[in-house]
Amino acid sequence: MKKFMTVLLALAMVLSLAACGGGNNAGSQDGAAFTTVEEGKLHMSTNAAFPPYEMTTDDGGFEGIDVEVAEAIAKKLGLELVVDDMGFDAALTAVQTGQTDIAMAGITVTDDRLEVMDFSDSYATGVQVVIVKEDSPAVQSIDDLASAAMIGTQKATTGYIYCSAPVEEGGYGEDHVTAFDTGALAVMALVNGQVDAVVIDNEPAKAYVAENPGLKILDTEFAVEDYAIGFAKGNTALKDAVNAAMAELKADGTFQKIVDKYITAE
Ligand code: ARG
Repeated sequence: MKKFMTVLLALAMVLSLAACGGGNNAGSQDGAAFTTVEEGKLHMSTNAAFPPYEMTTDDGGFEGIDVEVAEAIAKKLGLELVVDDMGFDAALTAVQTGQTDIAMAGITVTDDRLEVMDFSDSYATGVQVVIVKEDSPAVQSIDDLASAAMIGTQKATTGYIYCSAPVEEGGYGEDHVTAFDTGALAVMALVNGQVDAVVIDNEPAKAYVAENPGLKILDTEFAVEDYAIGFAKGNTALKDAVNAAMAELKADGTFQKIVDKYITAE
C-alpha cells in the first residue's frame, strides 16, 4: 500500500511538472499552484555587481552562482529566467511589491527583512569581512574599526546596517559609514583613500582584492550570515516550489557544480 502511494505521488508530481511545462502561467510541484509576474517566465530581481554571485558579462548578459542556480530552478519549474538588474535596495523592494517573482542577490536573511518578505531555505553562507589597504595606518584589526574615520559599505546591505548602527548597539554610528551604490565603488573609495576600510561579503571581497593590488582582507570575520532567495510575503506556493527545485539541484549535484565553477576551494 505504501509503495502504491509513493508511485501515485511521484506520478502526480510528474503530471504537475508537465502541466507547468506546457506554458501554463500557474505551476505546482506538489502543493498549491503559483503564478508568476509574466506567463512562462520567472523574473529575478538582482544587483549584478556582486561577484561571483551575480555580474554582467561583456556582451550584456548575466552570470554568476545566483544567475545559474536561478536558471536551473526556472527550468525545473518549466519557466524561463528573466534577470532584472537594479540597485540592491530596489531588488529587495521589487520582489516585496510583486514586480518580480524572486530576489536573488546574495541576500542575507535578517529579522528585519523577514518582517517584510519571505525567504527560501538558505543556500549559502556569507561572511562579512573587512578590506583595508595593505599598509593601512588606521585599521589593522577589526578592533580598529571603532576608530576608523570612515567605513565604506554598499547601500542597504547588512554591512551598512551593522556598521551604521549606534555604538550602543554594536555599530560605529552613521557618521562613520558611507553607503555606495555598489561594493565596487566602495572599494574604489578605499583605493583612493576616501574611506579607511570596506565591510562587505567575503566572496566579492576576494574578487575585489584580486583586482586591486595593495588591498587585503583582515583575518577576523565581522559577521556570519545565511543567504537565501527572497519572495513577496505570503507567496508560499512559489516558495515551496523553489525550495523543492533547489533540494533536487542539491541532491543531483547540479548546485555544487555551479558553485565550483565560480568558487575554487582553498
Ligand atoms: N549579503 C549582503 C546583504 O544581504 C549583501 C548583498 C549584496 N548583494 C548584491 N547583489 N549587491 O545585505
